[in-house]
This record gives sequence, C-alpha cells and structure tokens, in this order.
Amino acid sequence: MPRAIVDIQNVGADAAEVLAHIGTSSFRDAYAAHSDPDDLEAHVKEFFSVQAVRACIETRQSSYVLASVDGQPGAFAKYRIAPCPVPAGALHALELQQLYVLASHQRHGLGARLVQFLSKIAVRQQLQGIWLSCWEDADWALSFYLKNGFSRVGTADFAVGSTTYCDYLLWLALEPECRKSASHSHT
Ligand SMILES: CC(C)(COP(=O)(O)OP(=O)(O)OC[C@H]1O[C@@H](n2cnc3c(N)ncnc32)[C@H](O)[C@@H]1OP(=O)(O)O)[C@@H](O)C(=O)NCCC(=O)NCCS
Repeated sequence: MPRAIVDIQNVGADAAEVLAHIGTSSFRDAYAAHSDPDDLEAHVKEFFSVQAVRACIETRQSSYVLASVDGQPGAFAKYRIAPCPVPAGALHALELQQLYVLASHQRHGLGARLVQFLSKIAVRQQLQGIWLSCWEDADWALSFYLKNGFSRVGTADFAVGSTTYCDYLLWLALEPECRKSASHSHT
C-alpha cells in the first residue's frame, strides 16, 4: 500500500470553515462524555464556530496550522507567542492553544507531526519552548504530550461554560537554533 502523504502548512481565514469543523467534531468526540451538554455547546460556539475562528485569524490573535492526509484535512494546531505563566517556563515561548485531530485520523502520528512543526517555528523565532494547558483527567492527551517530551510544571483553572476544571500546565524546552547549528558544525 502506498504511504499516505501528509501536508502541514500555516493557513489563513479562508480555512476557517475546515478548522471549525475539525475543532467542533473532535472536541465533541473527546469531551461529550465528560461535560454538561450545555457547557459543551457553549464552549464549541465560543471557540470552534466559523466566526470565532475567522475572527482569531483576522485580528492576528492566533495562528493556525492545518494537517491534511492525502489531501483531506485531518487535524490542526492553534498557537500564539505568549509567556509561560510558571517560573519553570519562560518569557519567550509559544503557547499551543488547541490541538485537535479528527477521531478517524487519531493515533497515526498526526499530532506528533504538528508538535514537530510548531517546534521548528518556535526554534526559528528563538523561543525557549512550547507550553499548553491540558485537563488533568484527559489521560489520552496527557499520554500524548508526555510521549512528545512535555513535562508537568504547574496547574491552572479552565472554565467550560459554567464549570471550572483543573488543568495541568505542560512545558517543552527547545534548544535555540544558534546552539543547535554550532553543535552540528563540530560533528
Ligand atoms: C491528543 C491528540 C491531539 C493526539 O493526536 P494523535 O494524532 O492521535 O497522536 P499521535 O498519533 O501522534 O500519538 C499517539 C499517542 O497519543 C496518545 N493517544 C492518542 N489518542 C489516544 C487515546 N484515544 N487513548 C489513549 N492514548 C492516546 C498515546 O500516547 C498514543 O500513543 P500509542 O498509540 O502508542 O498508545 C488527539 O488524540 C486528539 O485530538 N484528541 C482529542 C482532542 C484533545 O484531547 N486534544 C488535546 C487537548 S489538550
């Protein structure tokens, strides 16, 4: 069987519909069993409606990276440059605000590919690392992040509708490009 072709690229407001679909579908799949239905839908409307996604891109609050498999959109990451809010983190960092893979595409390495893509962006911009917050009971996501080199550095509250959840803050330190290329030139 031929290998699937994975394409990952930064996208603009014209991708808002696709991003909203992936976010809505995978957020519902992952969290419907764990949330109050009204809270869940309020969260979807606030963060995954086409209008919300488009506004984020057009106002440059955040950037989105889309991953497609054999031409079919399957996952995205939303990020911005923002300091990590714990001392173990850093001032110059990339915040991974959302990472969503359609259920049909999960466990095929797409999430890992998106983290690698963002790591390259962060290294190019001389950032010290990547951070995010992840619900403490999202075992699947915690397993994913720990496997990809993140470690727990703190906790934070996270509101979904009227309910407040406890999140773990996760941090991935990155090696700056200048140090990397210096060490490579000696090998
Ligand atoms: C978490 C998520 C981004 C991982 O992306 P992915 O493409 O499935 O992950 P990869 O294929 O790169 O890595 C797979 C690893 O992630 C973890 N993982 C992913 N899905 C899992 C699941 N359903 N159950 C348990 N572990 C899971 C495991 O460690 C897995 O390794 P394994 O298959 O060897 O056990 C994706 O599952 C997802 O979008 N989930 C729903 C939304 C979500 O929770 N997003 C994160 C919010 S912080």
